[in-house]
Amino acid sequence: MSKYEALHRLKDEMEKDNSLPLKKGANKLVFGSGNTEAQILICGEAPGATENIQGLPFVGQAGKLLDKFLALAGLERKNVFITNIVHHRPPENRDPLPNEIESYGKYLDKIIEIIKPKIIITLGRFSMAKFLPNAFISQVHGKAFNVGDFKIIPMYHPAASLRNGKILMAEKQDFVNLKNMVQLT
Ligand code: URA
Repeated sequence: MSKYEALHRLKDEMEKDNSLPLKKGANKLVFGSGNTEAQILICGEAPGATENIQGLPFVGQAGKLLDKFLALAGLERKNVFITNIVHHRPPENRDPLPNEIESYGKYLDKIIEIIKPKIIITLGRFSMAKFLPNAFISQVHGKAFNVGDFKIIPMYHPAASLRNGKILMAEKQDFVNLKNMVQLT
């Protein structure tokens, strides 16, 4: 079975899973999208209002900024697969709760297992904490860490850059630097 087919099967399974804690309050499942053969997987936090309508990750304001960041690294959406820590929108965009992260985590693990990326770029602290539980994003953003089979590169969440000019400057530089880091692998 191709990675594409395996991901489709997993998405179908997830659509039917009524035990997922945020399913009731959400409109669409935001499973993930992009190149299923990509070596780079990007993991955000949770769908927002626009993603909840369209069923696709990072299609709102933060997504537009993410596209600009990717361009700084010489990347486009077709070079990556993008997903999230939780795949339904939390009510009023609140932070995902530990039990929610755990429930969706088993699907995220399967997505990662199917894609087998070399590099995982995490966006924001919830996504970072899955791979680097003791790290502080202000100290580690933009650096690469070997975790198991993956190179984990934690980045600030683009929504944080939309709110804070200093974070925006730092994140731009991190994505400029990312260009060399992804070429080396
Ligand atoms: N923010 C996220 O973390 N993920 C999305 O899909 C959209 C906004």
